[in-house]
Amino acid sequence: MEKVIVFTGNAHPRLAEDICKYIGVPLSNGEVLRFSDGETRVKIQDNVRGKDVFIIQPTSCPANEHLMELLVMIDAIKRSSAKRITAVLPYFGYARQDRKDQPRVPITAKLVANLLDRAGADRVLTIDLHAGQIQGFFDIPLDNLYAVKIFGQYFGDKGIKNLVIVSPDVGGIKMARAYAKKLGAGLAIVDKRRISDTQAEAMHIMGEVEGKNVIIVDDIIATAGSISEAVGALRKNGAKDIYVAATHPVLSGPAIERLAKINVKELVFTDTIPISKEKMLPMMTQLSVAPLLGEAIKRIRKEESISELFE
Ligand code: R5P
Repeated sequence: MEKVIVFTGNAHPRLAEDICKYIGVPLSNGEVLRFSDGETRVKIQDNVRGKDVFIIQPTSCPANEHLMELLVMIDAIKRSSAKRITAVLPYFGYARQDRKDQPRVPITAKLVANLLDRAGADRVLTIDLHAGQIQGFFDIPLDNLYAVKIFGQYFGDKGIKNLVIVSPDVGGIKMARAYAKKLGAGLAIVDKRRISDTQAEAMHIMGEVEGKNVIIVDDIIATAGSISEAVGALRKNGAKDIYVAATHPVLSGPAIERLAKINVKELVFTDTIPISKEKMLPMMTQLSVAPLLGEAIKRIRKEESISELFE
């Protein structure tokens, strides 16, 4: 891993440390602080001239602060003559604003793609993008890894019998199908209607869940409106044990209050976003994405194929 340099902002230093351990390089030194007026101040301490630089920074809450840190770091590293800069966004914030679903609204996911590109990123590495098509917003290479590998192993080891994978909305069918295939399980879908940013309503369940153990799979749990509705609907329809697997623990607004009330056996997240001690509930587990990202970084550095990581 000669010539690999890894930096991080303030979004998730522990994940950056774990990735560095996996690839066997020290985390490089850079100050990412604030000026007295709140502006982002970055100083790269290590020499990056001619180096292959990876910046680990999920654009999680506070999204604007973390995004700005990432952009300013890219600028500082570009101007320090790095050979290549890969922006590693384990969680790609703003991804849900990926289309004009009402008049006079922005496509902010595209704007963020433009910003990363213009700041000087040469490539992007991420996990479970909210919608695969967001890749097309970039004119630089983007690798979108899948957490199904991590969750599949975890739930496979549990050997849950009589299992059905449930997508909490129609948009998640492709992801749910991948889990069902990996775990040799059935498939069901919740017909969800979004009422507002924080509220969803489950209309029907398509598929057989009565007497079955289920895993609800989703890319994001934000306010937990979707998941609460899905669990309620599954209970009404006679599901037995309910597990939840969600890649990105955004956990905003009323999420913790809602999750504390839902009756599930286990709520499993990855660590693309850190969960603070105050938000950690007893039924929550967090699985590390460091080996997956670390392996991808190693292969990108060695110019090897990473398609095996997509399977
Ligand atoms: C929707 O398309 C996503 O996959 C998630 O289900 C949604 O973003 C979760 O949001 P919330 O937890 O606020 O319902």
